[in-house]
Amino acid sequence: MTMPVANIDWDGLPYGLQRAVREHTGRVTGSRPDKGQRSDFNATLETASGLVFAKGAYQPLFAASLRNEAATVAWVSRIAPRLLWRIDVEGWVMLGFEHVNGRHADYRPGSPDLPLLANAVAQLSKVPLPDHVSKGVERHFGGLGAMVGNRLLHTDLHQENVLISGDRAVLVDWAWACKGAAWVEPAMAAFRLMVAGHSIDEAEDWGRGLATWQDGTVLDKFVIANYRSWRQAADHDPRDWKLRAADMAHRWSLHRNMPPR
Ligand SMILES: Nc1ncnc2c1ncn2[C@@H]1O[C@H](COP(=O)(O)OP(=O)(O)O)[C@@H](O)[C@H]1O
Ligand SMILES: [Mg+2]
Repeated sequence: MTMPVANIDWDGLPYGLQRAVREHTGRVTGSRPDKGQRSDFNATLETASGLVFAKGAYQPLFAASLRNEAATVAWVSRIAPRLLWRIDVEGWVMLGFEHVNGRHADYRPGSPDLPLLANAVAQLSKVPLPDHVSKGVERHFGGLGAMVGNRLLHTDLHQENVLISGDRAVLVDWAWACKGAAWVEPAMAAFRLMVAGHSIDEAEDWGRGLATWQDGTVLDKFVIANYRSWRQAADHDPRDWKLRAADMAHRWSLHRNMPPR
């Protein structure tokens, strides 16, 4: 069974793992924990070789997702932080990334971050599919056939996985990267904008700015599958933000005259 993430701090890591990190970074003089959502360890480390963002996991599901992340980031170096090192010891996987000096994206209406997000999503749509990516995004959406495809997708572009650094949106957290149709990423991102306060029309307009956006029956099908997926997530784990997302997904389907069954 997968336990909730442990959020272990630097001092709580096994000694062999600390030593393996130090072999890459030199002395670690400080650790600033970051509230990650799906890793057992997340922190900016102050080291003899400068700042490094490190994330690690020992629970099998999360460790596997970090292996997926490590393999994927090599393909998206223009829009993601560079992977500096990777450690596999004592059941832990730990990844060290170039530290991004930035802040979380703001998805509220009128935010200057929205065109930067669009640029990053457009760049992602041109990246070839890495060989190791075999899982399809449709499996989270009841196997919806229209979502099947051979494009690399991030699928988790919420505001905390997008860092604004200068005039760029840097996409982090490729742990759940998978493959699917190219229109899926802009559709999922547009939904994130709705949850952050955009009207449905405003968010769809943002999506229309992307060459891979799809409207019509494909989007109608997605909107229903998206609602079912969020409804299931909120029923399973009724935290506020999931209930709000399920409610927004419901409103989107009504807006497109597709009352969900
Ligand atoms: N390379 C980086 N540089 C600086 N901060 C980062 C970097 N990568 C991630 N972060 C910060 O740490 C948080 C958690 O990292 P993330 O990769 O999203 O882990 P999780 O899978 O636990 O959500 C992010 O929301 C972001 O604020
Ligand atoms: Mg994250």
